[in-house]
Amino acid sequence: MGIKYGMIGGGQGAFIGDVHRKSIALDAFAEIAAGCFSRSVENTLETGKNLGIAAERCYKTYEEMAQAEAKRSDKIDFVVIVTPNSTHYDISRAFLNAGIHVVCDKPLVWETEQAQELADLAQKNNLLFCVTYSYTGYPAVKHVREMIRKGEIGKIRFVNAEYPQEWLASPAEKSGNRQAQWRVDPEISGKVNCLGDIGSHAENMVSYMTGLRIKSLCARLDKIVEGRVLDDNASIMIEYEGGAKGLYWSSQIAIGYFNALRVRIFGEKGTIQWAQESPDCIDVFMSGQPGMRLSRGRDGFYQHAQSFSRIPAGHPEGYFEALANIYKTFTGAVAMLKAGRHIREFTPVEAEFDFPDAKMGMDGVKFINKCVESSAAGSVWVNY
Ligand SMILES: NC(=O)c1ccc[n+]([C@@H]2O[C@H](COP(=O)([O-])OP(=O)(O)OC[C@H]3O[C@@H](n4cnc5c(N)ncnc54)[C@H](O)[C@@H]3O)[C@@H](O)[C@H]2O)c1
Repeated sequence: MGIKYGMIGGGQGAFIGDVHRKSIALDAFAEIAAGCFSRSVENTLETGKNLGIAAERCYKTYEEMAQAEAKRSDKIDFVVIVTPNSTHYDISRAFLNAGIHVVCDKPLVWETEQAQELADLAQKNNLLFCVTYSYTGYPAVKHVREMIRKGEIGKIRFVNAEYPQEWLASPAEKSGNRQAQWRVDPEISGKVNCLGDIGSHAENMVSYMTGLRIKSLCARLDKIVEGRVLDDNASIMIEYEGGAKGLYWSSQIAIGYFNALRVRIFGEKGTIQWAQESPDCIDVFMSGQPGMRLSRGRDGFYQHAQSFSRIPAGHPEGYFEALANIYKTFTGAVAMLKAGRHIREFTPVEAEFDFPDAKMGMDGVKFINKCVESSAAGSVWVNY
């Protein structure tokens, strides 16, 4: 297909950049051609060399990369931004202004106005903007979404989403863990730590699966490990438009739990449960009937969800495949634009556009800010 991409962040020693590269490589719809992988030029050159990138396309800064790539006849089609949160806004803007599609990791930015500006800029320049809420890529998550849209469990009454992790139960930031160090630092992480890092996934999952819109919320952001200035545990009560209620909990001090994102949706006719650590399956409990466990690749998933299943049921798929599914749709959309179509033509055909976008990024930023507002005022209810 000839689609080329570049990356900002993801140098040696970094976490998620390499996961993105491997996920993109699963389908090979795009090939890496440029990068500024680190603030350290040595790291960038070494990372680029290992990836087979020409030295002239291993850049010292993202600004230099955006300008230089924009001028090339073989410029990258999209950039993947996998740097810490404080940098997302400036880097995204630089590439959108250079006419290059953007994939940025979450949380998108710090302020809702910044997210809106990026969304508007992308639209104005006929560019795509993807925010990698990775879990939206699972076939089971897409099936849940369709079950709810078809009304299979009836009107939603209550939603419970939780994301417990144990990795910051002790002060890992003080013993050289680089990922921990920036996450607990407000200069780099932003107004929140745990809530932005994983609570934002809970918000996104509920929103993606159910389509529910938040009307008001009441949040308590806790700093449990001594000396932390940002939250490492967050509890949030929600009221949605239309009357449903919700309860979200995210935590980095939950010893015994790794990436235990779980969503339970309780409707008038039944309940659906999905858990990230067994992502192929959905548990469904219909009132008065025995429980059912559905699986990707086996139990009649709706066609759209099933189209993201790669191997037969029983051979587990996971995190890499979910992210690859986002890139599959995203690179398909990039290819269509490259072939001359305009972004305005996409909206009615949802299947062509089923990747997390700037609007979802913006929803996440708003959610974070509303939780901060509520917690700072003494955990009061705040309107959305
Ligand atoms: N979608 C997910 O499930 C998921 C999972 C993990 C992390 N993330 C997000 O991904 C981002 C990165 O997280 P991480 O854990 O990989 O961080 P990390 O600290 O492991 O890696 C960050 C990388 O960015 C580089 N960097 C920083 N500033 C730069 C700049 N100006 N120019 C070039 N490179 C720069 C660093 O040198 C490093 O290589 C964060 O926003 C995080 O929230 C998302």
